[in-house]
Amino acid sequence: MTSPAQHPAIQRDLEDGSRSPLQVPNAAPALAPLPPKLSLRGISRNFRNSNQHDLLALERIDLQVRPGEFVCVVGPSGCGKSTLLHLIAGLAQPSAGTVLLDGRPVDGPDTGRILIFQDLGLFPWLTVIQNVEFGLRMAGVPKPERRFRSRNYLRLVHLGEFEDSYIHQLSGGMRQRVALARALATEPDVLLMDEPFAALDAQTRDLLHDELERIWRETGRTIIFVTHNVREAARLGDRVLLLTFRPGRVKREFTIDLPRPRHLEDVEVARTARDILDELRDEINKSREAEYRHDKTSR
Ligand SMILES: Nc1ncnc2c1ncn2[C@@H]1O[C@H](COP(=O)(O)OP(=O)(O)OP(=O)(O)O)[C@@H](O)[C@H]1O
Ligand SMILES: [Mg+2]
Repeated sequence: MTSPAQHPAIQRDLEDGSRSPLQVPNAAPALAPLPPKLSLRGISRNFRNSNQHDLLALERIDLQVRPGEFVCVVGPSGCGKSTLLHLIAGLAQPSAGTVLLDGRPVDGPDTGRILIFQDLGLFPWLTVIQNVEFGLRMAGVPKPERRFRSRNYLRLVHLGEFEDSYIHQLSGGMRQRVALARALATEPDVLLMDEPFAALDAQTRDLLHDELERIWRETGRTIIFVTHNVREAARLGDRVLLLTFRPGRVKREFTIDLPRPRHLEDVEVARTARDILDELRDEINKSREAEYRHDKTSR
């Protein structure tokens, strides 16, 4: 059996000197708190805008996400939500700070973290199952295993019958499910979702909420989910982070410990959403004022 001092979390604390050896607990390793899946430490990100001015999109974001946690991120348009997901995905580098996945710095994209873009990025010339297999093919998974896994995930999102269809033959909700199956098929530890259900009608979105919650519970993935919809955030998240308008900082964290499965119409979900919205409104007003000032000066 591993001794407590050999446990990775404790080992790391010993190595970086944040805990003295005298403080090593005697508890069995299984009882030690799990190390975070994802840590953001002092993340800032600058951009140079079209007027050659520096724009601070994100400022000093600190965040720890537990393995298997479902974290939702809300904030006004332009506050840096997508930028944050890109940094976690390794598609861009922070101007300051570090992103750690399982304690290791993220220095580029890999299949352990998958970003589902709002426009999905499905290939119209491939069938549904070929789309789902795509990431596995890139990862060099042999064909029989690729097929087997893709079929499993298509069944999980209730699209087993549509594996030979093309994307244009599917509804918007079905396309979202293909994108979800494709992301899940590579079995990423962390799923990054950028407003994935924003374009859907209410009924389809309800169904996908149920499916996503079920899949999350069955697979134990860690999910970071960006949305503008506070009700959706309260419905899905274990925690909701509210970002400020430019520069994006964490204004407040809401822990949502309502029982699951939840529903959008639940009274408690609605009440929690209202609390989040009260705080969000100030930030949305600031973003509107900034737009108004910009319009006036550029006239
Ligand atoms: N590649 C880029 N070059 C220059 N500026 C950028 C770039 N990407 C993002 N930005 C700026 O950074 C800020 C944050 O953008 P981001 O797309 O992360 O916002 P967001 O919160 O996702 O907004 P939305 O809710 O509208 O999707 C915006 O002001 C945007 O103009
Ligand atoms: Mg965005």
